[in-house]
Amino acid sequence: MLEIANLEVVYHSVVRVLDGVSLKVPEGSIVALLGPNGAGKTTTLRAISGLLDVHDGQATKGTITWEGPSGDPKALLGSPAEQIVGAGIAQVMEGRRIFADLTVEENLLAGAHVSSGDVKQDIQKFYERFPVLGDRRKRTAGYLSGGEQQMLAIARALMSRPKLLLMDEPSLGLAPKIVADVAELIRELNDEGMTILLVEQNAAMALDLAEYGYVMENGKIVRDGPSQELLDDEDIQEFYLGMGRGETKSYRDVKHYRRRKRWLS
Ligand SMILES: Nc1ncnc2c1ncn2[C@@H]1O[C@H](COP(=O)(O)OP(=O)(O)OP(=O)(O)O)[C@@H](O)[C@H]1O
Ligand SMILES: [Mg+2]
Repeated sequence: MLEIANLEVVYHSVVRVLDGVSLKVPEGSIVALLGPNGAGKTTTLRAISGLLDVHDGQATKGTITWEGPSGDPKALLGSPAEQIVGAGIAQVMEGRRIFADLTVEENLLAGAHVSSGDVKQDIQKFYERFPVLGDRRKRTAGYLSGGEQQMLAIARALMSRPKLLLMDEPSLGLAPKIVADVAELIRELNDEGMTILLVEQNAAMALDLAEYGYVMENGKIVRDGPSQELLDDEDIQEFYLGMGRGETKSYRDVKHYRRRKRWLS
């Protein structure tokens, strides 16, 4: 189980982008973290995986606690990224961040550098699971299709045999059919016991997979609840539809607007 409590993050010692974020990811669950561009979703994942300092970011307040299946609760903030991977947390980066100049197999090997398992056997398992990757194992990863690159990014993260997988917008820029494939893979991984924190702007996809969701805006959690409750919520529906039409800027604006409408009618 992962628990974030009252987390504050600043970049360059001045710009505060997370302002008291709290959330929980129970063991064995899929939890969705939703929100528009710039809300602070990626920053939240960086804080968990120990990558803030790479971006000149710093947690100024709050705690992140991780209790792996086998151990006592561990405080993650301040631990080096390597150690966090070693504790069973892996991240699939936004934008399918693979090594474009390396082959498929080299990408997988790069993901295995902290693996305690049998790397060759793990790679073989992935080739069976993702035959397209197996067929293209000696190919330069940059020439794979978008969907194949996303599968490779996920497979690479899995090489460290994580217990918790952080996924940053895995559906971004993919055709609907490929998004469905990625969603199916996420569901399979979860069925096999993987705990997943799923960051998405695709609320429909994420809430369909997750049992619980958080909506983030301007560095704050503005709404959370069981997925079905969020899917049924008219404010949320209007917010996301509005976003799709490029009309609505803020979940809070929608909420206030709807309140006023109710008030006036
Ligand atoms: N390295 C950085 N230095 C300064 N500001 C940053 C840095 N990285 C992110 N930010 C700012 O922090 C805020 C949150 O960014 P973040 O990337 O966490 O949002 P996000 O929810 O992941 O957005 P998106 O959906 O666009 O990926 C934004 O205002 C962004 O400009
Ligand atoms: Mg992001």
